Amino acid sequence: MGRVEGKTALVTGASRGIGRAIAIELAREGAKVAINYSSSDSKAKEVAEEIKELGGTAILYKADIGNSKEVRAMVEAVAKEFTHLDILVNNAGITRDTLLPRMTDEQWTQVIQTNLNGCFYCTSAVIPIMTAQSYGRIVNISSVNGQVPAMGQANYSASKGGVIAFTRTAALELVNSGITVNVVAPGYTETDMVGTVPPAVQTIIKGKIPIGRFGRPEEIAKAVLFLVADGDFITGQQINVNGGAFM
Ligand SMILES: NC(=O)c1ccc[n+]([C@@H]2O[C@H](COP(=O)([O-])OP(=O)(O)OC[C@H]3O[C@@H](n4cnc5c(N)ncnc54)[C@H](OP(=O)(O)O)[C@@H]3O)[C@@H](O)[C@H]2O)c1
Repeated sequence: MGRVEGKTALVTGASRGIGRAIAIELAREGAKVAINYSSSDSKAKEVAEEIKELGGTAILYKADIGNSKEVRAMVEAVAKEFTHLDILVNNAGITRDTLLPRMTDEQWTQVIQTNLNGCFYCTSAVIPIMTAQSYGRIVNISSVNGQVPAMGQANYSASKGGVIAFTRTAALELVNSGITVNVVAPGYTETDMVGTVPPAVQTIIKGKIPIGRFGRPEEIAKAVLFLVADGDFITGQQINVNGGAFM
């Protein structure tokens, strides 16, 4: 029997990278998984196929998490399809890196809208469902760069620091509804997001990571699985999966 057998999960941004690994990990451990994404149709289908090959159940839901109407429609549809919704992983995120003197209002707003407002929209949409069930597990994916300064990422750092602060208050407010809310804060992880960082800069970053390498998406997924499978007495907390980059 899997560690989340019988549970259902919605993972945002699950067509690629860390979200993909989380969706597959939860499915491998018995959860039915809804794969949210915004544009990568074929990649999302590949994730669903991989889950089906593992003997699991996956559905696809294309929606922009930065759009509250789309999020509400998605959460309603997923809860209807699965008849209950136990796990939400707020994973989808974007970067629009540039130094502050050059950062446009649009670059600032896009990142806050997706990374922070999207986390709120999805959480807000699942609260009535999880409250009615007296059960819910919410994991928000922040970042080491929400904990330490990061050149060119004032927008991203603010969004990811905001996710951490949001998590603590949400955890406190929802504790009597049977809902836990926690953060997993990855360090640099081998995904398309890090692929946009110039190789020379990647080498400098790696040099500052005590374990000496970037993380793998599967290593982030293990922390998420732990929180949703074994974290009944854990809420408002943060697990840093960063190779020692921030201690
Ligand atoms: N990689 C790292 O080093 C690292 C480190 C710390 C934290 N994180 C965080 O971990 C999370 C996943 O990062 P990643 O590296 O796996 O990113 P990624 O490889 O760029 O994948 C991002 C995922 O988010 C989805 N997405 C983007 N905008 C969306 C929107 N508005 N609505 C719905 N889905 C959306 C993408 O869907 P489409 O494919 O359809 O575009 C994709 O599935 C992010 O929150 C990121 O900030 C990453």
